[in-house]
Amino acid sequence: PSPRTTRVATRVARVPTEPRVDAEKDLTSPLHTFEASTLDMPTGRDVESISDTEEWKALQEHVKEINTTHLRDLLRDEGRCMNLIKESEGIYCDLSRQRITNKTSELLMKLANKANLKDKIEAMFSGEHINSTEDRAALHVATRARRDQSIVVDGRDVVPDVWEVLDKIKDFSNKVRSGEWKGVTGKPLKNVVAIGIGGSFLGPLFVHTALRTEPIAAMESEGRTLRFLANVDPIDVARALKDMNPEETLVVVVSKTFTTAETMLNARTVRKWLIAQLGPDAVAKHMVAVSTNLKLVKEFGIDPENAFGFWDWVGGRYSVCSAVGMLPLALEYGFDLMEEFLLGANSIDDHFRLMPLEDNLPVLLGLMSVWNVSFLGYPARAILPYCQALSKLAPHIQQVSMESNGKGVDINGHPLPFESGEIDSGEPGTNGQHSFYQLIHQGRVVPCDFIGIVRSQQSVYLKGEIVSNHDELMSNFFAQADALAYDKPPEQLRSENVPDFLIPHKTFTGNRPSISIMLPACTARTVGQILALYEHRVAVQGFIWGINSFDQWGVELGKVLASKVRTTMHQSRTKSRTVSITDGFNYSTTRMMNK
Ligand code: F6P
Repeated sequence: PSPRTTRVATRVARVPTEPRVDAEKDLTSPLHTFEASTLDMPTGRDVESISDTEEWKALQEHVKEINTTHLRDLLRDEGRCMNLIKESEGIYCDLSRQRITNKTSELLMKLANKANLKDKIEAMFSGEHINSTEDRAALHVATRARRDQSIVVDGRDVVPDVWEVLDKIKDFSNKVRSGEWKGVTGKPLKNVVAIGIGGSFLGPLFVHTALRTEPIAAMESEGRTLRFLANVDPIDVARALKDMNPEETLVVVVSKTFTTAETMLNARTVRKWLIAQLGPDAVAKHMVAVSTNLKLVKEFGIDPENAFGFWDWVGGRYSVCSAVGMLPLALEYGFDLMEEFLLGANSIDDHFRLMPLEDNLPVLLGLMSVWNVSFLGYPARAILPYCQALSKLAPHIQQVSMESNGKGVDINGHPLPFESGEIDSGEPGTNGQHSFYQLIHQGRVVPCDFIGIVRSQQSVYLKGEIVSNHDELMSNFFAQADALAYDKPPEQLRSENVPDFLIPHKTFTGNRPSISIMLPACTARTVGQILALYEHRVAVQGFIWGINSFDQWGVELGKVLASKVRTTMHQSRTKSRTVSITDGFNYSTTRMMNK
C-alpha cells in the first residue's frame, strides 16, 4: 500500500458486506470487491483522516483564539451577527450565539471543501452506494421526491416506484377513512395501531405528535385514533390496546426487515387478540404491513396485496417519508395533508442539494456540530423545542443522529483518531427549564438548539394577562439563549448586594453556545422541513468526519446475545431447571436470570 497521501475520500469505497478485515488480509479474496479503477479515490489505506489535514489543524489552532473570546462580546458585533443569521425556505436560523468568529466560519468552509462535502452530498442524491458496508444507496430523499423528479439508483429511476406506493397509500387510506374498507363485522375502521420500533416508530410518532393539535390535522382526524406499539414490554401492549374495539381497529405492522424480534412478537400478540375476538378471517381485513420484505409479510399471513413496500436504500431511521410514516399518518390525517409534509421535506432536500455551502442551512448546522464536538470538546447537544407539538423531535433525532454518527471507525474501517457523534437529548421548553437546565447553565457546557414557532397552532389569551400563552412561551425562548450566552460575574452580584457566601453559587460564567431556529408555524409542511433539516445536518457531520452515517452495526451484538438468553430462558422454563454457569453465561448474568 502506498503511504498516506494528502487526499481525503471524495466518494466512498465499495467495500464487501462482510467485515472488511477479511478482504484486506487477502486481496485475492472474492470479498475484496474494491473497484479502485472505477473510483476517483484511493481504496482506504492511502486515504488520510480528515483530522490529518491542514484544514483540521488550522481549526485546532484557532481554538486558542476562540478561547480568548466571550459570547457577551461577540454578540456586540452586529456585522458578525448579521452574517450568522440565515433565512431560507421560511426557516429563520440564528447562529450568532455559537462560539465562532468570521474566521471560524472561513476555516470551517475550508474544512468542508477539504472533506469534499459538495461531492458527497451529490453522491447521496445521485444514488451512489454511499452506505458502503451494506453496498446500498442512502436515498431517503427519493421517498419525498416530487412526481416530476427523476432519481436514478442502479440504473433505475425510482421516483415512479415511490409514487406507485404513495398512490396505493392514498387509495387505501381514502377507502378506510371513508368507510368503504370495512372490518370483518362490517364496521368502519376508525382506530389504527401501528406496530414498529426504532426507525419504524420514532419518526411517525414525532410527526403524529406534531400534527394532532394543528387545526387542519385535528379536523381531518376527528373521531379517529392512532396509537403506536413499540416496546415488547407487555405493558406497552396493554396500553396500546386499552379500550380499542377490535371490530373498528386496523393494525399496521411496520418493519423494514420484518424480522425485528420485538415487532414480530408484538405483531403475533395483536394478531392473536384480533383472531380471539373476530375469528381467523379478521387478519385479511384488519392487518396490513409496511416492509421491504414482502416474502416474510406473506409468511406471516398478511396478503401481499395489503402490504406497502419500500426499498433497501431507505434506512430505517430515515424512513418516515416512506410508507413507514405515510401509511399510518395518511390513515389518521388523510393523504393530502401528508403530501404537504412530503413537500416540506422535499423543499429542504432541494435547498441542501443546490444552495452554496455558505448559505446552506443543514451544512451550516452540521458544521456547528462538528466545531462543538471535535474542536471545542462538547460531546452533547440538547434539542429544546419551545413547542409542545414538537415534543417527540428530540427522541427521533436522537436515533437519527446517534445511530448514524456514533461510530468508532471511518468509512474505510480505520479507527477514528477522534470521537464522532453527538450525545443527543431534549425536552420541550419551558418544561426542561424546571428540570435539567440547571446543569446547562452552571454545570457542563451543552450546546443547545432552541426551536421556536412564530405563530402557534393554538391561540390562548387570557383576559387580564399581559401576554398570551404563546408569548409567555416565546419570552422564555428568547431569554434562555441569552441567559446561556451572557455571564453574571461576582462584581455584578456584589453590586446587587448578594451576600458573599452566595456569590459563587449565583455566578454565571456564560459563554455557552446555542442555536435559535424559528419556524413560521408548526404545520405539516414545516414538520417535514425540520425533519429533513436535521437528517441532512447529521449527514453533513458524517461526511466531514469521514464515517458511514448510514449503517448501524453497533446494534447487532445485543440482538445476538438476547437470542442466546432467549433460548436458555425457554429451556429453563420448559425443563423447569435453573440456569447454570454451564449454559455459557457469567456468574453475574446467571444469577440475575435465576432471580
Ligand atoms: O435495531 C436497530 C434497528 O435496526 C433500527 O435501525 C431500525 O430502525 C429498527 O431496528 C427497526 O427495524 P425494522 O424496521 O427492520 O423492524
